Amino acid sequence: MTENRKFHTVRGYQLLEQNKRLLTPAMEDYLEMIYRNSLEEDYLRVNSLAELLNVKASSATKMVQKLARLELVDYKKYGIIQLTESGKEIGSFLLHRHNVTETFLQFLGVQDRILVETELIEHNISIDTLELIDAFNQFIKENPEFAARFELFKKQADKIP
Ligand code: CO
Repeated sequence: MTENRKFHTVRGYQLLEQNKRLLTPAMEDYLEMIYRNSLEEDYLRVNSLAELLNVKASSATKMVQKLARLELVDYKKYGIIQLTESGKEIGSFLLHRHNVTETFLQFLGVQDRILVETELIEHNISIDTLELIDAFNQFIKENPEFAARFELFKKQADKIP
């Protein structure tokens, strides 16, 4: 992660904490997806967002309006959604949280429903645990022999359900 992204992620976490009671898991999912998309495309329309999230356009519109009321997105003309500075910061944290959680599950060897499992975990995890998991992921990346030993351990001990 670049320094700038990292700064956004930290700020994003602080902002998310402040907005905790206002942002539901579903709103977090929307923001994460809008942010993910903003890294690849310049603008996003409600219809495309609805498709990405597999929801009805009317539900997406309602949710985007809620995010706009919290000043996390701008949503005015032509159905185009744009992240505000705070929206970007929180979105950056949410994407980071998702990636850390998913990577950890990959290391464990979770295969089935890895995205569903990631979604279930990410909304409930504390920042302290997330940072530890992030450190653990880095550790495994830098020491692949431990990943290999873990694989062997699972096989030998018949730990695979
Ligand atoms: Co997610």
